[in-house]
Parts: sequence; structure tokens; C-alpha cells
Amino acid sequence: MKKEIKEKLFEIYIPQEKIQSRIAQMGNQISKDFEGKDLCIIGVLNGAFIFLADLSRHITTAVQVTFLRISSYQGLQSSQSVEKKMELSEDLSGKHILIIEDIVDTGISMNFLLGEIRSHQPSSVSIATLLFKPEAFQFNYPLNYVGFEIPNKFVVGYGLDYDGLGRNLPDIYQLV
Ligand code: IMP
Ligand code: MG
Repeated sequence: MKKEIKEKLFEIYIPQEKIQSRIAQMGNQISKDFEGKDLCIIGVLNGAFIFLADLSRHITTAVQVTFLRISSYQGLQSSQSVEKKMELSEDLSGKHILIIEDIVDTGISMNFLLGEIRSHQPSSVSIATLLFKPEAFQFNYPLNYVGFEIPNKFVVGYGLDYDGLGRNLPDIYQLV
């Protein structure tokens, strides 16, 4: 099944069943790793809203949930500059933080987020990303929980957009 978004053609790359079973595994792992700890998960808007909603329901302890909003991508290209669009409203000092992202591509956005979050003096900062493009990654900070490593090709769906569209699609599509 192909989908056309703004005159670009996309085909299914990771079907929803596969996404959901991987997320259940990630949630189990995170639940074990943070057992007995105060965990605050921070979703990165807009892309991570669906992943956070699904992943957080596989975390078995009561966690705090908050969001950060940044913007970096334009069209099909990752941009060099990251802009903060929303201030953190929670006190993070002394807490264990898990950043939830849809995708780590060049890593520039996550690098910016790490700096931003560390400035609030949390106890620890970990990263969970559904997708990771190792060929595009320009940094060497660790990604603690990765759903799928994918090639350096544009994807859309399950939170990810092409020019603002397609975040609602339950499967992940790749540009044909
Ligand atoms: P980075 O700063 O290059 O790592 O890019 C990270 C951000 O760009 C992600 O949070 C996404 O919002 C967006 N992004 C990166 N790759 C893709 C893609 O293939 N499709 C849609 N959005 C993407
Ligand atoms: Mg994003």
C-alpha cells in the first residue's frame, strides 16, 4: 500500500505490529532498569507524541510525564540549527530523566536537548528513541534504548511528518 503526501510517494517500511511488539520489549527493559527509582520521562514534541503514549503504557511503575518542544527539520533535510519552542515546566533536579524521541538522525537535536536537560541538574539522563540512523549520526553520546536502526532514508508516520503531514499514520513509511 503506497501513500502520497505532497506529491511524494511513500511505501510501508515498518508495519504497526512490528512497531508495537518492539515497543513492548523496550517498555519491559525500561521498567526493569528503573525499578524503585523516580523516573520522569520527557517527550520531544511534536514527533514523539505517539511513541511516548504507547511506550509509557508499557512502563510498569508510576512515572512523571512532561514535554519539551523543539523544531529542527525542514522538508526532507535535517537542519543545523535547533530552536526551543517551549520551556520545561517541571523541576528536574535529582530526578532520573528519560528523553523520548521519535528519531535520532544527525543527533544535533538530541545533543541540544542533552545540554538543556543537564543544566537542570537531574540525577541521570537516558535516551529512548524509536528510530536511529547510524549513518547520519555525528556524535558519540550513548543511545540507551533504540527501537530500530534504519538506513539514511526519509521516513514518515507514527509521529514522524513530511512537511507537517503524516504523523497520524499507524505504520512507518519510507520514501520510494
Ligand atoms: P537530528 O537533529 O538530525 O537528529 O534530527 C532529529 C529530528 O529531525 C527528529 O526529532 C525528527 O523530528 C526529524 N527527522 C529526522 N529524520 C527524519 C525522517 O526521516 N523523517 C521525519 N522526520 C525526521
Ligand atoms: Mg522529533
